[in-house]
Order: sequence, then structure tokens, then C-alpha cells
Amino acid sequence: MDDIEKLKSDNISLRRELEDERNKLDTVLQSIVDGVYTTDIDRKITFWNKGAERITGFRADDVLGKYCRDILRHTGESGGSLCETACPLEKTMSAQSAIMGKDVYSGTVWGRLVPVSVSCSPIIDKEGDTVGAIEVFRDISGQKQLERQKEDFYSMLTHDLKSPLQVIMGYAELMNSMPPAQLSLNSADFINIILLNCSSMHSLINDFLSISRLESGSMHLDLRKSNLAELAKRVHDNYMPACLKKDISLKASLPDSSRESLLDEKLIERALTNLVSNAIKFTPRHGTVSISLAEVDGSAVMTVSDTGPGISPEDIGLVFEKYYRTKPTAGKDGVGLGLAIVKSIVEAHGGSVAVESAPGKGSDFIINLPIDNPPESR
Ligand SMILES: Nc1ncnc2c1ncn2[C@@H]1O[C@H](COP(=O)(O)OP(=O)(O)O)[C@@H](O)[C@H]1O
Ligand SMILES: [Mg+2]
Repeated sequence: MDDIEKLKSDNISLRRELEDERNKLDTVLQSIVDGVYTTDIDRKITFWNKGAERITGFRADDVLGKYCRDILRHTGESGGSLCETACPLEKTMSAQSAIMGKDVYSGTVWGRLVPVSVSCSPIIDKEGDTVGAIEVFRDISGQKQLERQKEDFYSMLTHDLKSPLQVIMGYAELMNSMPPAQLSLNSADFINIILLNCSSMHSLINDFLSISRLESGSMHLDLRKSNLAELAKRVHDNYMPACLKKDISLKASLPDSSRESLLDEKLIERALTNLVSNAIKFTPRHGTVSISLAEVDGSAVMTVSDTGPGISPEDIGLVFEKYYRTKPTAGKDGVGLGLAIVKSIVEAHGGSVAVESAPGKGSDFIINLPIDNPPESR
């Protein structure tokens, strides 16, 4: 009798241990941020974690016991269904080997597809038989969006480099084929056009290189004592001809001279130039662009204001992001790097840049640079 009692109690504690182990495993799988689910050999879902719920919106109660082809409906890059012919679970089970990081799309409760990176393994029992499969899937929407932005960026960059190059080639060929007498009559105009296009290619390449340097953290600040009022005046004077041409009134409200501050003059001039060139580019004819400089609480505050189209509340937080361009200004040339460069330059100086704007109300871009506590030379 004692033996039977002992057997019973051993059995109970064994079951408890098993239950505890299962709970532990369940907790671990539930707390993984990726989507994790298991199926039986027929690909019916037997486990579904919180990560899978978060990515797809389907709750465990909705999917347990259902075929995965009715829930996730994985499709390939081209949009074709994988369930019948190339199901990763089917493949991993039949080959009894793991599949690592395959990019597919997954269905969601919201109807849209989400890009996921899928890894699967077969579940094999003690006898070596396949009894099911486990799939781990990671939401890669962010990565895909970045890839798309990069592709867009490279196609824009090639396009923007190609068009001035075509102009340069066209004029060079024309000059090459002209009789000397005609050439001497026209050469000054042609050379001007060639130089203009060279300079646009040059600034594009410079922007591109700066962004690469900024991204790799290897931007070097060449700090010298500089006068911001003179710097701003220079930028103003540089842009006078462009404003006259576009009938834009370019105003400056600058002190005759400002306190000397330690900064990388070329880079700060570049930041201000980017803001002024944007203001002129996006402001329609007969508008006004103003540059101002003032000292406030130990900081130099440079503002570039315009009477252009303004920026909507949805876009305003994004315009300093690399490659970001708003829809209303899409027709204008540029690749969306200018403001990202301004931000990096200003922040490298320990300052900040902000924008105040609303649609139809113009924009104010404000650079704030510390003068009393300048950055250390890097
Ligand atoms: N002064 C401005 N007025 C209205 N929109 C602006 C202004 N400056 C910048 N933007 C918006 O911010 C985007 C990013 O600017 P930027 O990084 O300089 O890129 P890009 O000039 O190459 O378009 C612009 O494409 C435009 O949509
Ligand atoms: Mg720009």
C-alpha cells in the first residue's frame, strides 16, 4: 500500500515538474519580441506568442488550431503565395533542416502585408520523427523603408548628376564642332553655362561626401575666431544676384559687427547657405527672404525667414531627416540632404537648429550657436 502511495506521489511531483518546465518555456517564448509560433505536422498552429500577436494583430485565441496558410498567408517579394509551393514550414519539416532569415510578407488582421524575416526549424521527437515546426519572424518594415529611401536617393543622385553632365557635354560638343569665328563670338556664354553646371555637380558631390563623413562621425571642426555678422553678410551678398533674378527681396538685419566666436567658419557658412538657398528655392517670385543675427543669452541666433509655402505640422518634425522632402516642394531640384547637413554642422558646434512654420505662413529656420562656451576643437 505504501508503495502505491509513493508511486502516486512520485507521479504527481513528476507531472508538476513537467508542468513547471512547460510554464518556464512558455514564459520564455512569450517574452521574445519576435513573432514565435509552432505548428503540428499538418501546419496547424499549436503555439502563438505575444510578439506574433503584436506584428500581425491576430490573437492566440483566434489562431490556435487553425492552418497557418489561413492566417499568415506568407507571400514572396513578387506577391505570389508561398503556401502551396514554397512554404518555409513545409520545407524545414521535409528537409529536417533549419531555414535562416528568409524575407517574405505576412498577412495581418488589418488586411495589409507586413515584411518579415522568417527562420524555421523542424520539431523532431526522440525517435527522430518530425512532429511539427517552429517559426520565428521579425518585422523588418523599418529596414525595408530605409532600403527604399536609399534606392530613391541613389536614383535621384544619379539623375541630378546626369542632367548637368548632359548639359556640359552638349555645350562642349557644340563648341568642339563650331568654326573658330563663331566659337569666339559665343564662347563666353557657353563657358558660363558649363561652369554653372559644374558648380551644381560640385555642390551635390560635396553634400554627398559630407553626409558620408557625418554618418561615420569623422567630421573635423577647424575652429577659428570668426565674426558671424561678416559671415552672414557674405552669404547675403552671394545670394543677391539669384534673388534679383527671381524678383525676391533679400533683406538682412545684421549688427555691424558681432563678438568673435570660435567656430568652423566654412561649415557654419555652409549651414547658413543651405538655409538661404532653400528659402530662395521654395519662395515664389515677389516673395521676401530675410537673414537676421542677434545675441541672446550668450548664444548667437541666426534666423532665415521666408514668405514661401510653409511646412505642414505632419512634415515639420521630419524635414531635418536625411532624404526627406515634403510633397508640396517635390518638383524643385535637390535630394533632401541640405537640412540634415545643417543639423549635423550646428550640433557639432554644440548648437541647435529649429523651424517654425505653418502652411501658407512662410518658414523661420533658427540656428542657435553658443558663443560663451564654444565647442572644443576635435
Ligand atoms: N524654406 C522652406 N520652405 C518650405 N519647405 C522647406 C523649406 N526648407 C526646406 N523645406 C522642406 O524640407 C525639405 C528638405 O530640405 P533639404 O534637406 O534642404 O532638401 P532639398 O533642398 O534637397 O529638398 C525640402 O525638400 C522641403 O520640402
Ligand atoms: Mg536644400
